[in-house]
Amino acid sequence: MKHDGKIALVTGGTRGIGKAISMRLAQDGADIILNFKSDATTAEETAAEIRALGRKVWVFQADMRDDKAIRGLTKTIKDEVGQLDILVHNAAFGTMGSILRMGLFSWRAAMDINVTALLLLSQQLAPLLQENDGGHIIGLSSIGADMTFSEYANIGVSKAAMEALCRYLAYELAPLGIHTNAVSAGPIQTRAIDWFKYPHAVHNYATTKSPLSRMGTPGDLCGIVSFLCTPDADWILGQTIRADGGISMGEDFMDWLSDEERAEEEAIKAAKRR
Ligand SMILES: NC(=O)c1ccc[n+]([C@@H]2O[C@H](COP(=O)([O-])OP(=O)(O)OC[C@H]3O[C@@H](n4cnc5c(N)ncnc54)[C@H](OP(=O)(O)O)[C@@H]3O)[C@@H](O)[C@H]2O)c1
Repeated sequence: MKHDGKIALVTGGTRGIGKAISMRLAQDGADIILNFKSDATTAEETAAEIRALGRKVWVFQADMRDDKAIRGLTKTIKDEVGQLDILVHNAAFGTMGSILRMGLFSWRAAMDINVTALLLLSQQLAPLLQENDGGHIIGLSSIGADMTFSEYANIGVSKAAMEALCRYLAYELAPLGIHTNAVSAGPIQTRAIDWFKYPHAVHNYATTKSPLSRMGTPGDLCGIVSFLCTPDADWILGQTIRADGGISMGEDFMDWLSDEERAEEEAIKAAKRR
Protein backbone atom coordinates (compact mmCIF):
# COMPACT_ATOMS: atom_id res chain seq x y z
CA MET A 1 0.00 0.00 0.00
CA LYS A 2 1.15 3.52 -0.73
CA HIS A 3 1.76 4.58 2.90
CA ASP A 4 3.10 1.28 4.26
CA GLY A 5 5.58 1.93 7.09
CA LYS A 6 4.57 5.61 7.32
CA ILE A 7 3.21 7.42 10.37
CA ALA A 8 0.80 10.36 10.06
CA LEU A 9 -0.30 12.97 12.58
CA VAL A 10 -3.75 14.43 11.91
CA THR A 11 -4.69 17.35 14.16
CA GLY A 12 -8.41 17.30 14.90
CA GLY A 13 -8.32 13.86 13.34
CA THR A 14 -11.16 12.35 15.32
CA ARG A 15 -14.29 13.53 13.53
CA GLY A 16 -15.52 15.25 10.39
CA ILE A 17 -12.95 15.80 7.66
CA GLY A 18 -10.04 14.98 9.98
CA LYS A 19 -11.53 11.57 10.71
CA ALA A 20 -12.01 10.84 6.99
CA ILE A 21 -8.36 11.78 6.37
CA SER A 22 -7.13 9.64 9.28
CA MET A 23 -9.17 6.66 8.07
CA ARG A 24 -8.04 7.06 4.46
CA LEU A 25 -4.35 7.35 5.37
CA ALA A 26 -4.81 4.24 7.55
CA GLN A 27 -6.57 2.37 4.71
CA ASP A 28 -3.61 3.35 2.53
CA GLY A 29 -1.19 1.76 5.00
CA ALA A 30 -0.17 4.48 7.48
CA ASP A 31 -0.20 4.23 11.26
CA ILE A 32 -2.01 7.22 12.73
CA ILE A 33 -1.44 9.71 15.53
CA LEU A 34 -4.83 11.21 16.35
CA ASN A 35 -4.97 14.61 18.01
CA PHE A 36 -8.14 16.12 19.47
CA LYS A 37 -9.08 18.90 21.86
CA SER A 38 -12.00 17.93 24.08
CA ASP A 39 -14.06 14.96 22.92
CA ALA A 40 -12.12 11.94 24.23
CA THR A 41 -15.00 9.54 23.61
CA THR A 42 -15.15 10.30 19.89
CA ALA A 43 -11.35 10.15 19.74
CA GLU A 44 -11.38 6.63 21.22
CA GLU A 45 -14.15 5.52 18.83
CA THR A 46 -12.15 6.73 15.83
CA ALA A 47 -9.02 5.08 17.23
CA ALA A 48 -10.91 1.77 17.49
CA GLU A 49 -12.00 2.07 13.83
CA ILE A 50 -8.38 2.62 12.78
CA ARG A 51 -7.16 -0.31 14.88
CA ALA A 52 -9.82 -2.47 13.20
CA LEU A 53 -8.04 -1.74 9.91
CA GLY A 54 -4.93 -3.37 11.37
CA ARG A 55 -3.09 -0.09 11.88
CA LYS A 56 -1.36 1.26 14.98
CA VAL A 57 -2.90 4.34 16.52
CA TRP A 58 -1.85 6.80 19.19
CA VAL A 59 -4.35 9.27 20.66
CA PHE A 60 -2.95 12.53 22.06
CA GLN A 61 -5.06 15.35 23.46
CA ALA A 62 -3.62 18.82 22.82
CA ASP A 63 -5.30 22.19 22.26
CA MET A 64 -3.82 23.73 19.11
CA ARG A 65 -4.40 27.16 20.66
CA ASP A 66 -1.87 26.44 23.40
CA ASP A 67 1.78 26.61 22.42
CA LYS A 68 2.83 24.70 25.55
CA ALA A 69 0.40 21.89 24.66
CA ILE A 70 1.83 21.80 21.13
CA ARG A 71 5.36 21.58 22.59
CA GLY A 72 4.13 18.70 24.80
CA LEU A 73 2.54 16.94 21.82
CA THR A 74 5.64 17.15 19.64
CA LYS A 75 7.85 15.96 22.53
CA THR A 76 5.51 13.00 23.13
CA ILE A 77 5.63 12.13 19.43
CA LYS A 78 9.43 12.23 19.46
CA ASP A 79 9.71 10.22 22.71
CA GLU A 80 6.87 7.70 22.34
CA VAL A 81 6.49 7.30 18.57
CA GLY A 82 9.93 8.27 17.29
CA GLN A 83 8.87 8.64 13.66
CA LEU A 84 6.69 11.00 11.61
CA ASP A 85 6.20 11.06 7.84
CA ILE A 86 2.96 13.02 7.34
CA LEU A 87 1.62 16.05 9.20
CA VAL A 88 -1.94 17.12 8.38
CA HIS A 89 -3.05 20.31 10.14
CA ASN A 90 -6.81 19.96 10.06
CA ALA A 91 -7.95 21.30 13.46
CA ALA A 92 -9.45 24.74 13.08
CA PHE A 93 -11.29 27.51 14.86
CA GLY A 94 -13.54 30.27 13.61
CA THR A 95 -16.43 32.46 14.61
CA MET A 96 -19.08 33.81 12.28
CA GLY A 97 -19.93 37.50 12.29
CA SER A 98 -19.28 41.02 11.12
CA ILE A 99 -15.65 42.07 10.77
CA LEU A 100 -16.49 45.33 12.57
CA ARG A 101 -17.64 43.45 15.65
CA MET A 102 -15.01 40.70 15.61
CA GLY A 103 -13.48 40.50 19.09
CA LEU A 104 -9.76 40.10 19.68
CA PHE A 105 -10.39 36.68 21.24
CA SER A 106 -11.86 35.35 17.98
CA TRP A 107 -9.19 36.99 15.84
CA ARG A 108 -6.33 35.63 17.96
CA ALA A 109 -7.86 32.17 18.41
CA ALA A 110 -8.31 31.75 14.63
CA MET A 111 -4.76 32.92 13.95
CA ASP A 112 -3.36 30.76 16.80
CA ILE A 113 -5.16 27.55 15.87
CA ASN A 114 -5.29 27.84 12.09
CA VAL A 115 -1.89 29.41 11.45
CA THR A 116 0.48 29.54 14.45
CA ALA A 117 -0.15 25.90 15.37
CA LEU A 118 0.97 24.83 11.88
CA LEU A 119 4.08 26.99 12.18
CA LEU A 120 5.00 25.49 15.58
CA LEU A 121 4.23 21.91 14.54
CA SER A 122 6.33 22.34 11.38
CA GLN A 123 9.25 23.89 13.27
CA GLN A 124 9.23 21.23 15.97
CA LEU A 125 8.51 18.21 13.78
CA ALA A 126 10.62 19.04 10.71
CA PRO A 127 13.60 17.07 12.04
CA LEU A 128 11.41 13.92 12.30
CA LEU A 129 9.67 14.55 8.97
CA GLN A 130 13.06 14.84 7.29
CA GLU A 131 14.09 11.30 8.26
CA ASN A 132 12.86 8.14 6.51
CA ASP A 133 12.98 9.50 2.89
CA GLY A 134 11.41 12.87 3.69
CA GLY A 135 7.88 13.82 4.62
CA HIS A 136 4.72 15.72 3.79
CA ILE A 137 2.87 18.62 5.38
CA ILE A 138 -0.73 19.41 4.39
CA GLY A 139 -2.81 22.34 5.65
CA LEU A 140 -6.61 22.19 5.41
CA SER A 141 -7.92 25.45 4.02
CA SER A 142 -11.20 26.90 2.81
CA ILE A 143 -12.32 28.64 -0.37
CA GLY A 144 -13.19 31.51 1.98
CA ALA A 145 -9.44 32.27 1.92
CA ASP A 146 -9.71 33.80 -1.55
CA MET A 147 -13.46 34.20 -2.00
CA THR A 148 -15.60 36.45 0.17
CA PHE A 149 -18.57 35.14 2.14
CA SER A 150 -20.72 37.12 4.54
CA GLU A 151 -19.67 36.77 8.20
CA TYR A 152 -16.72 34.52 7.25
CA ALA A 153 -13.84 37.01 7.70
CA ASN A 154 -12.51 35.45 10.89
CA ILE A 155 -11.92 32.07 9.27
CA GLY A 156 -11.24 33.32 5.73
CA VAL A 157 -8.41 35.67 6.70
CA SER A 158 -6.71 33.07 8.90
CA LYS A 159 -6.96 30.43 6.16
CA ALA A 160 -5.42 32.86 3.65
CA ALA A 161 -2.50 33.28 6.07
CA MET A 162 -2.27 29.51 6.42
CA GLU A 163 -2.08 29.04 2.65
CA ALA A 164 0.74 31.60 2.53
CA LEU A 165 2.50 29.78 5.37
CA CYS A 166 2.20 26.50 3.42
CA ARG A 167 3.83 28.16 0.40
CA TYR A 168 6.72 29.45 2.48
CA LEU A 169 7.11 26.12 4.27
CA ALA A 170 7.19 24.40 0.87
CA TYR A 171 9.91 26.76 -0.31
CA GLU A 172 12.09 26.38 2.75
CA LEU A 173 11.52 22.71 3.59
CA ALA A 174 11.64 21.18 0.09
CA PRO A 175 15.45 21.04 0.12
CA LEU A 176 15.11 19.02 3.35
CA GLY A 177 12.86 16.52 1.57
CA ILE A 178 9.61 17.82 3.06
CA HIS A 179 6.75 18.56 0.65
CA THR A 180 4.11 21.07 1.73
CA ASN A 181 0.76 21.89 0.12
CA ALA A 182 -2.69 23.06 1.18
CA VAL A 183 -6.08 21.59 0.27
CA SER A 184 -8.85 24.16 0.08
CA ALA A 185 -12.43 22.96 0.44
CA GLY A 186 -15.82 24.37 -0.38
CA PRO A 187 -18.72 23.55 1.96
CA ILE A 188 -18.42 20.01 3.32
CA GLN A 189 -21.20 18.37 5.32
CA THR A 190 -19.81 18.17 8.89
CA ARG A 191 -20.83 19.52 12.30
CA ALA A 192 -18.94 22.73 11.46
CA ILE A 193 -21.71 23.72 9.02
CA ASP A 194 -24.07 24.09 12.00
CA TRP A 195 -22.03 27.13 13.11
CA PHE A 196 -23.37 29.11 10.16
CA LYS A 197 -26.40 31.28 10.97
CA TYR A 198 -28.28 29.66 8.06
CA PRO A 199 -26.83 26.17 7.47
CA HIS A 200 -29.56 25.44 4.91
CA ALA A 201 -28.39 28.48 2.88
CA VAL A 202 -24.86 27.03 2.78
CA HIS A 203 -26.34 23.75 1.58
CA ASN A 204 -28.47 25.49 -1.09
CA TYR A 205 -25.47 27.58 -2.21
CA ALA A 206 -23.26 24.50 -2.61
CA THR A 207 -25.82 22.36 -4.39
CA THR A 208 -26.80 25.22 -6.72
CA LYS A 209 -23.30 26.44 -7.56
CA SER A 210 -21.67 23.04 -8.04
CA PRO A 211 -22.42 21.49 -11.43
CA LEU A 212 -22.42 18.22 -9.47
CA SER A 213 -25.54 19.51 -7.68
CA ARG A 214 -24.56 18.30 -4.24
CA MET A 215 -22.82 19.29 -1.04
CA GLY A 216 -19.25 18.09 -0.46
CA THR A 217 -18.51 15.22 1.93
CA PRO A 218 -15.37 14.47 3.97
CA GLY A 219 -14.80 11.57 1.55
CA ASP A 220 -14.34 14.10 -1.27
CA LEU A 221 -11.16 15.43 0.37
CA CYS A 222 -9.40 12.50 2.00
CA GLY A 223 -8.17 10.83 -1.21
CA ILE A 224 -6.66 14.13 -2.36
CA VAL A 225 -4.74 14.48 0.90
CA SER A 226 -3.55 10.87 0.68
CA PHE A 227 -2.40 11.36 -2.94
CA LEU A 228 -0.51 14.56 -2.08
CA CYS A 229 1.47 12.52 0.46
CA THR A 230 2.75 10.05 -2.17
CA PRO A 231 5.85 10.26 -4.39
CA ASP A 232 3.47 10.57 -7.39
CA ALA A 233 2.67 14.08 -6.12
CA ASP A 234 6.30 15.12 -5.53
CA TRP A 235 6.21 17.73 -8.29
CA ILE A 236 3.26 19.50 -6.63
CA LEU A 237 4.83 21.92 -4.19
CA GLY A 238 3.53 24.98 -2.34
CA GLN A 239 0.14 24.74 -4.05
CA THR A 240 -3.34 25.16 -2.74
CA ILE A 241 -5.39 22.40 -4.34
CA ARG A 242 -8.97 23.56 -4.51
CA ALA A 243 -11.60 20.85 -4.05
CA ASP A 244 -15.02 22.45 -4.11
CA GLY A 245 -17.08 20.55 -6.68
CA GLY A 246 -16.52 23.41 -9.11
CA ILE A 247 -18.28 26.02 -6.95
CA SER A 248 -15.56 28.61 -7.55
CA MET A 249 -15.37 28.17 -11.34
CA GLY A 250 -17.33 31.36 -11.77
CA GLU A 251 -20.65 33.09 -11.90
CA ASP A 252 -23.35 32.00 -14.31
CA PHE A 253 -26.08 34.27 -15.66
CA MET A 254 -28.43 31.30 -15.09
CA ASP A 255 -28.16 32.20 -11.37
CA TRP A 256 -30.30 35.25 -12.12
CA LEU A 257 -33.30 33.41 -13.61
CA SER A 258 -36.76 33.98 -12.18
CA ASP A 259 -38.25 31.20 -10.04
CA GLU A 260 -40.43 29.97 -12.95
CA GLU A 261 -37.52 29.98 -15.38
CA ARG A 262 -35.37 28.12 -12.87
CA ALA A 263 -38.09 25.47 -12.34
CA GLU A 264 -38.33 25.06 -16.12
CA GLU A 265 -34.54 24.61 -16.42
CA GLU A 266 -34.51 22.11 -13.53
CA ALA A 267 -37.25 20.10 -15.25
CA ILE A 268 -35.21 20.05 -18.49
CA LYS A 269 -32.09 18.92 -16.59
CA ALA A 270 -34.05 16.21 -14.75
CA ALA A 271 -35.52 14.94 -18.04
CA LYS A 272 -32.00 14.72 -19.54
CA ARG A 273 -30.77 12.71 -16.54
CA ARG A 274 -33.54 10.12 -16.97
N1 LIG B 1 -16.78 21.68 6.91
C1 LIG B 1 -16.54 22.55 5.92
O1 LIG B 1 -17.45 22.98 5.19
C2 LIG B 1 -15.13 23.00 5.64
C3 LIG B 1 -14.91 23.77 4.49
C4 LIG B 1 -13.62 24.20 4.20
C5 LIG B 1 -12.58 23.86 5.05
N2 LIG B 1 -12.81 23.12 6.16
C6 LIG B 1 -11.67 22.82 7.04
O2 LIG B 1 -11.57 21.43 7.26
C7 LIG B 1 -11.05 21.20 8.57
C8 LIG B 1 -11.96 20.26 9.35
O3 LIG B 1 -13.26 20.82 9.43
P1 LIG B 1 -14.51 19.98 9.95
O4 LIG B 1 -15.70 20.57 9.32
O5 LIG B 1 -14.25 18.52 9.82
O6 LIG B 1 -14.50 20.35 11.52
P2 LIG B 1 -15.22 19.64 12.75
O7 LIG B 1 -16.23 18.64 12.29
O8 LIG B 1 -15.68 20.76 13.61
O9 LIG B 1 -14.02 18.82 13.47
C9 LIG B 1 -13.04 19.54 14.13
C10 LIG B 1 -11.97 18.61 14.69
O10 LIG B 1 -10.91 19.45 15.17
C11 LIG B 1 -10.70 19.24 16.55
N3 LIG B 1 -10.37 20.53 17.15
C12 LIG B 1 -11.12 21.65 17.19
N4 LIG B 1 -10.44 22.63 17.84
C13 LIG B 1 -9.25 22.10 18.19
C14 LIG B 1 -8.11 22.59 18.88
N5 LIG B 1 -8.09 23.85 19.37
N6 LIG B 1 -7.06 21.78 19.09
C15 LIG B 1 -7.07 20.49 18.64
N7 LIG B 1 -8.12 19.96 17.96
C16 LIG B 1 -9.19 20.76 17.77
C17 LIG B 1 -11.97 18.63 17.08
O11 LIG B 1 -11.68 17.89 18.27
P3 LIG B 1 -12.79 17.83 19.50
O12 LIG B 1 -13.92 17.01 18.94
O13 LIG B 1 -12.07 17.16 20.61
O14 LIG B 1 -13.18 19.25 19.77
C18 LIG B 1 -12.38 17.77 15.87
O15 LIG B 1 -11.62 16.58 15.88
C19 LIG B 1 -10.88 22.59 9.21
O16 LIG B 1 -9.56 23.03 9.00
C20 LIG B 1 -11.84 23.43 8.41
O17 LIG B 1 -11.51 24.81 8.42
C21 LIG B 1 -14.05 22.68 6.47
